[in-house]
Amino acid sequence: MWRATVLSLFPEMFPGALGYSLAGKALKSGMWSLKKVNIRDFSNDKNGKVDDVPFGGGHGMVIKPDVLDMALQSVSNDDGPRIYLSPRGKKFDHQRAKTLSQEKGVVLICGRYEGVDERFLVHNKIEEVSIGDFILSGGELAAQIIMDSVIRLLPNVVAKSEALLDESFETGLLEYPLYTQPRIWKGLEVPEVLLSGDHKKIKLWKTKMSEIITKSKRPDLWTKYIKS
Ligand SMILES: C[S@@+](CC[C@H](N)C(=O)[O-])C[C@H]1O[C@@H](n2cnc3c(N)ncnc32)[C@H](O)[C@@H]1O
Repeated sequence: MWRATVLSLFPEMFPGALGYSLAGKALKSGMWSLKKVNIRDFSNDKNGKVDDVPFGGGHGMVIKPDVLDMALQSVSNDDGPRIYLSPRGKKFDHQRAKTLSQEKGVVLICGRYEGVDERFLVHNKIEEVSIGDFILSGGELAAQIIMDSVIRLLPNVVAKSEALLDESFETGLLEYPLYTQPRIWKGLEVPEVLLSGDHKKIKLWKTKMSEIITKSKRPDLWTKYIKS
């Protein structure tokens, strides 16, 4: 079973969105497990203080290294890669989701306020991962995004696993356009080829459309695709 461990000051935010639909069902049926570690439980202060002002001045508060370190020590070394959610980190993508899905699990450390003391990251050789070039108020939503993208790749979570092969990024391309009933909606028709029943033609059309869409919407992905 794939194990997700989250270190957070707000553990009650989990499973959050992951308690619903695909991920929620998979959690209930034991395809993945969730361990929540409340960072505040490791405070050595009678008032439960976990942060302090930054040395050198600056805004906000910084989560203390000793408190975080104790919280991390409560987690087994065998629970998968240790990741601090951080805007400074390497950008998360589908390839990383795939590699994480092949691990035993992942340990996700959620920052809050201004972030965490650098020495905690250096001492524990913690990898930093970002979900994009913007600032969230905390790592909890970023952790859920990463977990969601990994959970759907776990065996048997998506009933028809071949469906995953058609999705954006899997082959380096974005997905082709999708259509369902009705055949004509507000004067817009479903492309004829999709109604033809000719599977070979349909496959060619889907590939062609994926290429056109990738080229126009994500020239960066297109350049990578044609180079590979
Ligand atoms: C307000 S942010 C701190 C931002 C930090 N002072 C900076 O400028 O890089 C608080 C926490 O949210 C999380 N966070 C914010 N943006 C993120 C992103 N783009 N990806 C992953 N985690 C993020 C991190 O855990 C961070 O410690």
